[in-house]
This record gives sequence, structure tokens and C-alpha cells, in this order.
Amino acid sequence: MSNIKNRIESLKKAKNAVILAHYYVPDEVQEIADYIGDSYYLSKIAKDACQDTIIFCGVSFMGESAKILNPGKKVLMPDATADCPMAHMAQVEKIEEIRRMYDDVAVVCYINSTGELKKHSDVCVTSANAMKIVKALPNKNIYFIPDENLGRYIASQVKDKHFIFNDGFCPVHAEMDKNSVKLAKNAHPGAMLLVHPECRMEVLEEADYIGSTSGIINYASDSEASEFIIGTEPGVMYELKQRNPDKKFYPLVPGHVCQDMKKITLEKVLECMENESGAIEVTEELRNSANTSLDRMLELAR
Ligand code: 13P
Ligand code: SF4
Repeated sequence: MSNIKNRIESLKKAKNAVILAHYYVPDEVQEIADYIGDSYYLSKIAKDACQDTIIFCGVSFMGESAKILNPGKKVLMPDATADCPMAHMAQVEKIEEIRRMYDDVAVVCYINSTGELKKHSDVCVTSANAMKIVKALPNKNIYFIPDENLGRYIASQVKDKHFIFNDGFCPVHAEMDKNSVKLAKNAHPGAMLLVHPECRMEVLEEADYIGSTSGIINYASDSEASEFIIGTEPGVMYELKQRNPDKKFYPLVPGHVCQDMKKITLEKVLECMENESGAIEVTEELRNSANTSLDRMLELAR
């Protein structure tokens, strides 16, 4: 083990810390994490963490959600500038306008959002639980923010509700289109196509499986097939290859990564543990109001 990894390991014990990492952070960071997973899994782990400090290797909405769900813990993020652009792609004024237009509306907020958006929403969802939660809501009208693609995918599966969409998107997944699918399928004719629901509908329509990062990893691991085109950020390749050394995985769009997730390096993890820097702070008012929609997600997804 490298010196830096040794130092992280001993600081973990000395500071009673736990390291959580999303599948999109660099491989070497996933390697030192205690828990790696999709957004739903990581939010459950963060809520139940009993250690004094949570080191969150991911983008800011993840650390912020962890702090809201488990406010008694110190939550540190290795790079405070690692942010998800989609998290900002909805407006509170628009939410208020929609609420005035429909008296029976549920504002359903993808967890990839700021605390301020969560505060004005009725329930949060992740790609792993959105379908179950939307189906369980008593409301006929659903205003889905900020991701239009995930919203449209859920709407295509839940026909008895009326959806209002917002035009947010993930720049990484939006890069994948019908032409990328054509090129990838031509290059790997026997491979199955597994994609994330943040992809455009024209990509989802061509897929053999649609699911969260964990869903994609589990599907490929359980499948009898041996070759897969992966329509999500290529950080998932680390876990896919660990679990399936004999299977072949090809990115749908080669070389296209989430720049913010890649900001998390081992050096920054060590630095934030040594200096206890990058602490997430949320006001009590934001914590209480945003916690309602996050807690409702955990309740309805159970
Ligand atoms: P999941 O890991 O929850 O599928 O989310 C993907 C993502 O884009 C996280 O930012
Ligand atoms: Fe945000 Fe997309 Fe990066 Fe996920 S992959 S953190 S949705 S920009």
C-alpha cells in the first residue's frame, strides 16, 4: 500500500472517520473507501453512520445531503468546488408558479439538487428509487426537477400521472445520443447496452437495461452475457471489472468523464482528513426544511 493510503488508513482510525465514495470518483479513491455506491445507498449509509466524521468523496449535493440527514456528524468534502451542474438547473420561483397552477401537485426533486431546491420540494428521489416513490405518491400531478431525462423516463413507466418537466440535464449523460449508440453497437455487435436514466430518451429506447449506477453494476454482474456497452460515467468500470474480471465493458462515449467527480484525489482526501477542512455547514432552517423531503424519500423507498 502506498504511503498516502497508509496515512489515510491511520487517520481513519485516529479520527473515527468513515469514507464514502460514489462510483464516479477516481479508482484509487474508490479503493480506500469504506462504502462505495449509488446516491441512494450512500444517503442511507450517511444517515446511519455512527462514526464521528464522514468523508464524502463525491460532489457537493452528496455531502450536503449527508449533513442534512445526519447533522450531528462532521461531514468533510475533499474538494469544495466539486459540484454537479445539474443540481442548480431548477428555480424556486418556477416551483412556486407550478404550485399556484395545480392544487394537487407533488414537487419531486432528484437528489442531484441544491439544499434550497430540496427545501421547496415534497419528496426527493434518486435514480434507484424514483419509480417506486412516484407510484406511491397520492398526487396526480408531478413536477419533476431538475432532470428532464429522468423525469421523462419515469413518466414513460407511470402512465396514470400527469408530469410537468423542467429542462435540467446532466452534461455527461446528455453527450450520449442515438449516433453514439449506433457507433458503439457497430464496434461491439454482440454487446448488451446498459444505460443510466439520465440519458436522453433516444438512448433509453435502444437499451437492454436502464438503471442507477448500482443497478447497472448488478445487472452486468448477474447477467450470462459477457460484453456490455456502458451508458454512464466510466467510473463504474472500476467496480464492474473488480466483480467481473472475465467480462468486457465498453464506454458508450469513450473518454467522456464527469470532471467534478474526478476532482477528488487521494491527496485531497488526505489533506481534508489531516486539516479537517472542507466541512459542510448548513443552517438549522435549511436542515429542517430539506430534511423533510430527504426523509420522506427514505421512508417511501423502504
Ligand atoms: P446514481 O449513482 O444514483 O445512479 O447517480 C448518478 C449520478 O449522476 C450521480 O451524480
Ligand atoms: Fe452531475 Fe452528471 Fe456529474 Fe452526476 S455525472 S455529478 S449528474 S454532472
